[in-house]
Amino acid sequence: MIELSGVGRTFTGRSGTVEALQGIDLSVAAGEFVAVVGRSGCGKSTLLRLVAGLLPTTAGTVTVGGQRVVKARRDIAMLFQRPALLPWRSVLDNVLLPVEIFGLRRAQHRARALELLDLVGLTGFEKRLPHELSGGMQQRVSLCRSLITEPQVMLMDEPFSALDALTREELSVELQRIHMERAATIVFVTHSIDEAVLLADRVVVLSPRPGRIRKILPIDIPRPRSLGRNAHTEDVARCSADLHEVLMERETPASAGIGGE
Ligand SMILES: Nc1ncnc2c1ncn2[C@@H]1O[C@H](COP(=O)(O)OP(=O)(O)OP(=O)(O)O)[C@@H](O)[C@H]1O
Ligand SMILES: [Mg+2]
Repeated sequence: MIELSGVGRTFTGRSGTVEALQGIDLSVAAGEFVAVVGRSGCGKSTLLRLVAGLLPTTAGTVTVGGQRVVKARRDIAMLFQRPALLPWRSVLDNVLLPVEIFGLRRAQHRARALELLDLVGLTGFEKRLPHELSGGMQQRVSLCRSLITEPQVMLMDEPFSALDALTREELSVELQRIHMERAATIVFVTHSIDEAVLLADRVVVLSPRPGRIRKILPIDIPRPRSLGRNAHTEDVARCSADLHEVLMERETPASAGIGGE
């Protein structure tokens, strides 16, 4: 579904050149859930923006569904690190924004918008403005907005980082449900190792400066998974420990650039 081949991105500014990503080869199958982890500044957000078509590559190619990505598309939704809501629009109107942008019928999507808001516990807040909500509530509104067009590909940049632990857990369950029901292809950036293991089919570990794939770790834990009182807690802990080790390893010249499954 998503193919990155030799993808690189260099930023050139007044203070010099930063190679944010280099030689990224990655295939994400349709319906697959891939998590991306790595230290701050290793290029995770840049990677998502390249796949979303919000930023051009400086090397290599990105295709989604067989087509080169050159600009934002309706079948690719992006959820940003910070909720980017329009301050003058109500919660409901923010959720319906993509419907307007892509010229779809608002009336047809209104019921779905209300359903999504209900799902994330925001019934009763439809007419409020973003500044009347907490950061976590705003992030939940953005989540609804990214789901309204039923995208086949969802790119999520630390979407739950501003949420409390319980809401995070609830939305993780909800996201897994959406993923399983709709067979959506998801690339999910997170700083939480446990969250990556809980959600992903594979975890991609990026190493910094320039960002390269250090390792790809498959997660073979049956779904739906949760961290509560159930059978998966041990499996999640085991995979998290492996992942933690990879992230902590100092990169030696010999291991640099070697990605593998
Ligand atoms: N628009 C830009 N102009 C110049 N440099 C940029 C730009 N965007 C990103 N960079 C640089 O690219 C590198 C990767 O940035 P990116 O935001 O992708 O990291 P990240 O892994 O998402 O970090 P974090 O975990 O802190 O969100 C950084 O060194 C950053 O300074
Ligand atoms: Mg980032």
